[in-house]
Amino acid sequence: MLGNFSFQNPTKLYFGENALDFLKDELAQYGPTVQLIYGGGSIKRTGLYDKVLAILKAAGKTVVEDAGVMPNPTVEKLYEGARIARDNKVDLLLAVGGGSVVDYAKGVAASAYCEEDPWEKYYLRQENPTCKLIPVGDILTMVGTGSEMNGGSVITNHAAKLKIGKVFGPENFPRFTVLNPVLTYTVPQYQMVAGFFDIMSHLMEQYFSGTDDNTSDYLIEGLMRSLIHSSRIAVKNPQDYEARSNIMWTACWALNTLTKCAKGQDWQVHMIGQSIGAFTDATHGMTLSAVSSAYYRYVMPYGVAKFARFGRAVWDVCAVSDEEAALKGIEALEAWMKEIGVVLNITELGVTPDMLEGIAQGAPSTPNAYKPLSQEEIVAILKASL
Ligand code: NZQ
Ligand code: ZN
Repeated sequence: MLGNFSFQNPTKLYFGENALDFLKDELAQYGPTVQLIYGGGSIKRTGLYDKVLAILKAAGKTVVEDAGVMPNPTVEKLYEGARIARDNKVDLLLAVGGGSVVDYAKGVAASAYCEEDPWEKYYLRQENPTCKLIPVGDILTMVGTGSEMNGGSVITNHAAKLKIGKVFGPENFPRFTVLNPVLTYTVPQYQMVAGFFDIMSHLMEQYFSGTDDNTSDYLIEGLMRSLIHSSRIAVKNPQDYEARSNIMWTACWALNTLTKCAKGQDWQVHMIGQSIGAFTDATHGMTLSAVSSAYYRYVMPYGVAKFARFGRAVWDVCAVSDEEAALKGIEALEAWMKEIGVVLNITELGVTPDMLEGIAQGAPSTPNAYKPLSQEEIVAILKASL
């Protein structure tokens, strides 16, 4: 059932092998100073840095460098980026990299002129910006998070052992995004498949709630089928343009706010995964894969009809009873996870038994799950994932 909702997505996308050609047109719309934000150096190794810098120079921009955004960007780095932006009065934040770089840019956009501590205001208290925002644009090099077309910004505070996402409104979505699938060819296999699972997880988090007949669920099933098909090709041949381009597009739609319309949504796996990340700094997609099997097996009895639909519509399961179809659906999901090669236990990510209580404390229970979990149940799921 589609009740009341609003939908707005202002991000302009440029997609395809020639997408970078449009950067100069976008740059013309902003003032002279650009903060060039990137990660640990992959864009220098691939040559993308030189290309982007040449376009910026040709457009007459003054470039302020902001390098070294780490995977799972930290609060200390956020403060540094905000200071750079403010001191240089930058007109545009240009993020070149994966979800971490884009998430960080959105955090900087809202923090540069924030008069309070942005970690406390946006991430701890989940308030919305009341200050001037700096526009963000991005060139995406790694697929998975959907950060290129949403308001998500996840920041890690290692001292507090917290990894928290703030979902900003459309005013802080990237104004434009350059999506060239070829730029993702160099992503290491481990990161690539982590990204594939992240996409699947975003879709499942939205799918597994509610029992109504909802257009969003049909959209999600189509996106899941496309991802499963293309991921099987991409793990064997990462340079298959058709597969990588379809996955890039699927990732974008999996978390650009469309498929959540009129849906309750779960997000329990992400809450647990983020807390694991706060303790271990592990790769985001792997923190999700490592707990998904235990989680979905645990909640399945509380949402059998939807899990049966998942088995039949996404995995082509043939089964007479809903119980059987639901179980076979989860088994098919697990087989696919093994096939693409994601991490299947939290021990491999550095989690030790003494961390479980703390991880559970950092993972709030989500009310729209088929079975909202107590702290004890989260610990039990973590134990089953060791
Ligand atoms: O830092 P560099 O040197 O660029 O290397 C990166 C990094 O080590 C590398 N990489 C990226 N593109 C590459 C490449 N290496 C070679 N060639 C390329 N083309 O890959 C590594 C991982 O990059 P990262 O940006 O950390 O990965 P991802 O895109 O998965 O982003 C993860 C972050 O996004 C957050 C996660 O929590 C995590 O902090 N998320 C953001 C969301 C959102 N905005 O809505 C939702 C997600 O659920 C997620 O929580
Ligand atoms: Zn995710």
